[in-house]
Amino acid sequence: MIADKIKLKIRGIVGEGNVLDSELDRFVYSYDSSFVPLLPANNPELVVRPLTTEEVSRVMAVACEEGIPVTPRGAASGRTGGSVPLQGGISLALDRMTQIVELDEKNMMVTAEAGVRTFDLYNHCAARGLFYPPDPASWKFSTIGGNVAENAGGMRAVKYGVTSDYVMGLEVVLADGAILQTGGKAIKNVTGYDLKGLFTGSEGTLGIITRALLRLIPMPKRRGTLQIMFGALDEGCATVYQLLQAGILPAAAEIMDRFCLEAVARRQRTDLAENTGACLIIEIDGEDDGDISTQTKRIETHARDCGATSFQAAGSAEESDGLWAIRRGLSSAVAALAPDRIGEDISVPRDAFPEVVRRIGIIAEKYGLAIAVYGHAGDGNLHPSILCDLGNPEEAKKVHQAVDEIFAAALALGGTLSGEHGIGITKRPYIAQALGETGLKTMKAIKQALDPKGILNPGKIWRGNEIHAQDR
Ligand code: LAC
Ligand code: ZN
Repeated sequence: MIADKIKLKIRGIVGEGNVLDSELDRFVYSYDSSFVPLLPANNPELVVRPLTTEEVSRVMAVACEEGIPVTPRGAASGRTGGSVPLQGGISLALDRMTQIVELDEKNMMVTAEAGVRTFDLYNHCAARGLFYPPDPASWKFSTIGGNVAENAGGMRAVKYGVTSDYVMGLEVVLADGAILQTGGKAIKNVTGYDLKGLFTGSEGTLGIITRALLRLIPMPKRRGTLQIMFGALDEGCATVYQLLQAGILPAAAEIMDRFCLEAVARRQRTDLAENTGACLIIEIDGEDDGDISTQTKRIETHARDCGATSFQAAGSAEESDGLWAIRRGLSSAVAALAPDRIGEDISVPRDAFPEVVRRIGIIAEKYGLAIAVYGHAGDGNLHPSILCDLGNPEEAKKVHQAVDEIFAAALALGGTLSGEHGIGITKRPYIAQALGETGLKTMKAIKQALDPKGILNPGKIWRGNEIHAQDR
């Protein structure tokens, strides 16, 4: 329990109106976009909404002194339970920190506070001809702080990489309230450990990211969006594989299977043709119209070669936005197909993508489960989504076995449990298998060094780092 005098102290730091503790508010801050069940035990005791780094620092100093768990939160769009306050305490919401502090055009870098929405940052830079490529599906509501904390990926990772490829520097409030500035505008920098790399993807367990300095690149002059239909999923996979082998690097190459297309058709109240088994949505970019048309032709040749039944280039920006809106809304459309949906985030080396998709098909058949498959085919990151009813104990058992086998398949092919959603709560049971004993021990040593009291996002990434009741 947080004592009244401590609550008073925190109200004094961020202002009365920025500390919420009604039953409703505590409930609202207890869940995110993952499948973590709603539990009263996950209600924070206090929701604290600081405006400045200094306020974050002062709140952390109090939390550290008192041994109060702190769970940072951006837009709660995370998929693995990162912002669920497993041990109550403080939900530290960074949504008021929305300043884009500087756009340094000469150095092509932008500094943003944690609560800036990814899409807003993209647009702000785009208006000056500069490109911030990481574009998680949730970019219209997810925040930069959350993207950095989870090392978010997105559609354009094929060509442009993920969030960590753009982080030049970070401002981080440490567990005891100290403010760390790390990295900077110098492109080459090997002075000491790469701390920005360490905090990127640390899921709120090592520090509170309050500000990020991000690298930008020139905005491509032209873009094109292609929609390619296939009779079978493996033909779509084969197309992406062939493109990459031929040295064609699309900005994005997204695949969806028939379940996904059914989900979209259901949402749009349209019919899906019998012979449609998969769809690829591809974005290409380049210098001029000629460049786009050459790439389009080359892609069409490969797609037809692999069995494409239709090939269409979006005729306008609206049409292209429409296709990407369908893709970005896929996760929720697929979720509506069944009472429950277990969505995963495996990632394999690019050349293993067709094989992992094939193995998932075999797993689905073995357990008699419907597994929708969609994801970032171009970079090998797939979201197999098991459509199920977990209320049926027999089915629930099969689902868990299927999930185990999906992870095993990813690891066996040289891949990993999570490409872009992080470990959070939902992937914890598999972390030891994925990292090995020495890998996990090394991570635990880092956590111990940076957060000796275990107050930062306790219970995340692996079990056993929770604050024990007697220590509080
Ligand atoms: C997507 C999210 C789920 O790709 O990562 O839609
Ligand atoms: Zn994704």
